[in-house]
Amino acid sequence: MKNRLKVYDSVSLIYDDLMIGIDYVRWSDYILNIRKNYLEKGDINVLELSAGNCKMAGKISKRIPRYIASDSSLPMLRKAKYFDSNKICCDMTALPFKNKFDLVFSTFDSVNYLLSKRLLLTLFCEVKNILSDSGIFTFDTTLEKNSLEFEKSYVSEGEYHGLQYKRKSKYFPNTRIHKNIFEIKNKFGTVLTEVHKQKIYRFETYFKLIKKAGLYVVECLDTFAFDKGNSNSKRIQFILKIDKSNAKF
Ligand SMILES: C[S@@+](CC[C@H](N)C(=O)[O-])C[C@H]1O[C@@H](n2cnc3c(N)ncnc32)[C@H](O)[C@@H]1O
Repeated sequence: MKNRLKVYDSVSLIYDDLMIGIDYVRWSDYILNIRKNYLEKGDINVLELSAGNCKMAGKISKRIPRYIASDSSLPMLRKAKYFDSNKICCDMTALPFKNKFDLVFSTFDSVNYLLSKRLLLTLFCEVKNILSDSGIFTFDTTLEKNSLEFEKSYVSEGEYHGLQYKRKSKYFPNTRIHKNIFEIKNKFGTVLTEVHKQKIYRFETYFKLIKKAGLYVVECLDTFAFDKGNSNSKRIQFILKIDKSNAKF
């Protein structure tokens, strides 16, 4: 059977360079503060979805040792330098776990890679099945205000470990798709092309699908802060729990 490349399989080669400006310490601290504010004290089980090359896993697992990092791209997980224990390659819409987790989280607009409402709903249902009774699911997502800044095409270039790369980014308001095209060239001139599509859902869509899955929104924040997020925010952070009043789910 042919092994189809997944999104990020090629980009894993240059991911560290792409993210050079990202403050993972601050981002990890934000997740730890969410844990402190929304979960009771005590030992917890953590599942990180779309963990990429496990930069946050390396940091957060030092404070919370019962930690599983997952991602759909095996090459991304294999690039992890500071987290080498519990890594599972799986799609966030088909979670292979039977045990429950107190904290499930995903960062860096990874849920925007789910290109249909059906898949987004599937994610919420899957997470609901593995959340402990008082557990939380927190994730960030970008809204249209963030993408509109990229409506005109945007190009960036870089070089990393002998690879030259180019990234073209453009937002298509009609379809609400944000597209990133990566071209990665090695020293022999071979070019790998990877196209990333992210769906920029309406603010209200999240609330509808979360409810439909039998979860509820404990808080919707402006990511990196504890102020309320709204439809005009660039990036919002959801904190969800199981809706116990909705027994049929
Ligand atoms: C922007 S990267 C973020 C990685 C990591 N969270 C970070 O902050 O560096 C998006 C990640 O989502 C993963 N991803 C995309 N679609 C996925 C899916 N359906 N299930 C699981 N992971 C997925 C990609 O492989 C990639 O590692």
